[in-house]
Amino acid sequence: MTALPLSRLPLEPLPAASGPLRVALAGCGVVGGGVLPRLLDRPDIALVGVLVQSPGKVRSPDPDPELVVTDPAALLAREPDVVVDTLSDASVSLALIRAALARGVHVISASKQAVASDPDGLSALATATGATLRYSAAVGGGVPMLETVRLARTLGPVRRIEAVLNGTVNFLLNRLAAGHPFEAALAEAQAAGFAEADPSADLTGRDAAAKLFLLSRAAFGPGARLPDRVEPLGPDFTPPSSRVRQLAVADCAGGQIRLAPVAGDPLFANLPDAGNAIRITLADGRILSRAGLGAGRAPTAESVWADLTDLLTSRVGAGANGAEL
Ligand SMILES: NC(=O)c1ccc[n+]([C@@H]2O[C@H](COP(=O)([O-])OP(=O)(O)OC[C@H]3O[C@@H](n4cnc5c(N)ncnc54)[C@H](OP(=O)(O)O)[C@@H]3O)[C@@H](O)[C@H]2O)c1
Repeated sequence: MTALPLSRLPLEPLPAASGPLRVALAGCGVVGGGVLPRLLDRPDIALVGVLVQSPGKVRSPDPDPELVVTDPAALLAREPDVVVDTLSDASVSLALIRAALARGVHVISASKQAVASDPDGLSALATATGATLRYSAAVGGGVPMLETVRLARTLGPVRRIEAVLNGTVNFLLNRLAAGHPFEAALAEAQAAGFAEADPSADLTGRDAAAKLFLLSRAAFGPGARLPDRVEPLGPDFTPPSSRVRQLAVADCAGGQIRLAPVAGDPLFANLPDAGNAIRITLADGRILSRAGLGAGRAPTAESVWADLTDLLTSRVGAGANGAEL
């Protein structure tokens, strides 16, 4: 099949909500590889393509070579109803999400950097074409943070969000508190698969900032802004005697990412290495909290799957959902 540039793909209406749901999987790494077997296991889903960068790479699980494409336009040319975006390159993700939504194709994305870089534009695009954009896995990995914030909003106005949103930094802070040198702790995080080869998005706080932005939009509406103060974690960090976490805090006036003492707060102080947690305080003082694994194949694929299952369930009304931004 000849690949068209994303911008020149023809706009087509969504197929009728009958027959198997045509799903295209973008990315087949840690997260995509966890989603793949589930897609193949469902008679009501037809996997129409898998986008990767290096088709010759040894991977487990291994998609059928007939399904594999290396060009985002070729993936969309297979006419999916849904694109499941698990790409690691945020700019390729963003272009694919835009192109899919513009065609009325639903999108489920795990990429916080892609979604957080243009939430208004993506929202407008989805609304215009009646497509749905979901991104539960982008915040909290396996912890349903966005869902918990939305639940909170059904109970009343949200006053404040506090959260630990980055498993890599959490891992490092646990090791630093135990007396490990920074470089050794970082190497251990990379060897354990928590930290990427380039950990700068985690260490600068950019990763947590993008996630807090998405949570703030869900809690306080589309006027929410990116955090105005983001404290990095670097080799010169000296852990104090009490427990410190990279805490993401927001209210309707703004947000911050800072390294804050949490010794008296069991929700945050006792978090294990890849742990993420959130506390939402409502205006009337009620509190909702969740904690769990913020990263890793199984929990993150589970979160993507929850979005896809929602889409399958609401298929009768497909196209009427709009974006969840
Ligand atoms: N890992 C987690 O625990 C976790 C948790 C929550 C959210 N996320 C988010 O989920 C997304 C995926 O993360 P991951 O850990 O699964 O990454 P990963 O293991 O590195 O896999 C990324 C996939 O994207 C493909 N890819 C990258 N650039 C591409 C390009 N230009 N064209 C085509 N394919 C490309 C790669 O192809 P090749 O296989 O050929 O290299 C690979 O299959 C990221 O946005 C991440 O932030 C991850």
